[in-house]
Amino acid sequence: MKVLVIGGGGREHAVCKKLAESKDVDEILCAPGNAGIAQIARCIPDVKATDMDGIVALAKREAVDFVCVTPDDPLALGCVDTLEAAGIPAFGPSAKAAQMEASKVFSKNLMKKYGIPTARSEVFDDMDAALAYLEKEKAPIVVKADGLALGKGVVVAATIEEAKQAVVDMMENGRFGKSGARVLIEECMVGPEVTVLCFCDGKTIVPMRSSQDHKRVFDGNRGPNTGGMGAFAPSPLYTTEIAERTEREILVPTLQAMNAEGIEFKGVLYVGLMLTENGPKVVEYNARFGDPETQAILPLLESDLLSIMRAVREQRLADEEIRWKDGAAACIVLASGGYPGKYEGGKLISGLEEAQKRGAFVYHAGTKKTEEGFVTAGGRVLGVTASGEDLEKAIENAYDAAKCIHFEGAHMRTDIGRV
Ligand code: AMP
Ligand code: GLY
Repeated sequence: MKVLVIGGGGREHAVCKKLAESKDVDEILCAPGNAGIAQIARCIPDVKATDMDGIVALAKREAVDFVCVTPDDPLALGCVDTLEAAGIPAFGPSAKAAQMEASKVFSKNLMKKYGIPTARSEVFDDMDAALAYLEKEKAPIVVKADGLALGKGVVVAATIEEAKQAVVDMMENGRFGKSGARVLIEECMVGPEVTVLCFCDGKTIVPMRSSQDHKRVFDGNRGPNTGGMGAFAPSPLYTTEIAERTEREILVPTLQAMNAEGIEFKGVLYVGLMLTENGPKVVEYNARFGDPETQAILPLLESDLLSIMRAVREQRLADEEIRWKDGAAACIVLASGGYPGKYEGGKLISGLEEAQKRGAFVYHAGTKKTEEGFVTAGGRVLGVTASGEDLEKAIENAYDAAKCIHFEGAHMRTDIGRV
């Protein structure tokens, strides 16, 4: 089969790599792709992930058999609906189902209505009402923009003043554009965070290996939030007992709630959990694979990813056997100096082959190929993933390999999997 993957980050590199191992995959196309993905797939840099017409035209021109839509924007724009309407089989939720991520108000209302454990929360369309509400609340408190905001529309405010500033930024100053016209003000939950990605076909929900990511830029979870500085799987915090409780209290009720609302969710449901002293609670849903969690999870998947994706689309997930490897995997992100603030691109990268020789796989997130070799071309540049018989060993292997890689200003956290 000829498969087209939409997107161009480290996560898409991991999806392409896993699909390339599939017995039924003859060729992989990736739009737009990136310089690393180009080593295993044919990239189409001119077709951006949000270019619906371009994607459909590409799929038709190339007679693609199956499309995997990975990033949030095209999903929210109805990429899967558009492809399916054009007769092209596609993996991922419909625009309606992708609201689980695209609207925090939507998913919050769903959780409220069906009693799914999450933070207490109020929705505001009016800034004065939001500010008046804050007068009566206590810090810490969380302010969130309703819509997609590149993962940056959440402020965990240490004081009421800071929370008010966040409300004004979102609702008056338009910091997140339309996404911030509506805000949620939420109780601040406390506890470690675990990500559970699930395959879901609208009838059955099957969790993958659990994982954790590290959002802050510096060691010890300090500094500003990023797209993710590293991840590992499985999470030792996600014990069998917590997994069973999550399945019973959150995963199955979420599937039932979506069905009761007439939403058939087919794709990957990302469940962000906080393990509070009162049990696991939902921090957020996403409607897709996580980045960089995917770079740590998919290497542990033993089964055929294309076969699972087809089973999801055709609602045969209950009959699909999904096997996982023993052991653990860790992904260390190498970022440009200055990220998530200003940074320079075009720095020559060395040591990529050395890292792979040590048994790691290097996923590309922001690189460019030049005559001299790969150079940096993004905030997050590479994700170095290694496996091991346990988490300790996986982390050690991943750092062994990551340390081989150099470019001017390179930054990585040294405590992935350890905090
Ligand atoms: P979100 O985009 O909703 O995942 O939020 C980004 C991050 O903000 C989460 O990973 C949490 O670390 C934090 N966060 C979001 N909501 C809450 C909450 N109600 N209480 C505490 N932290 C939160
Ligand atoms: N790792 C967070 C996300 O993918 O949204």
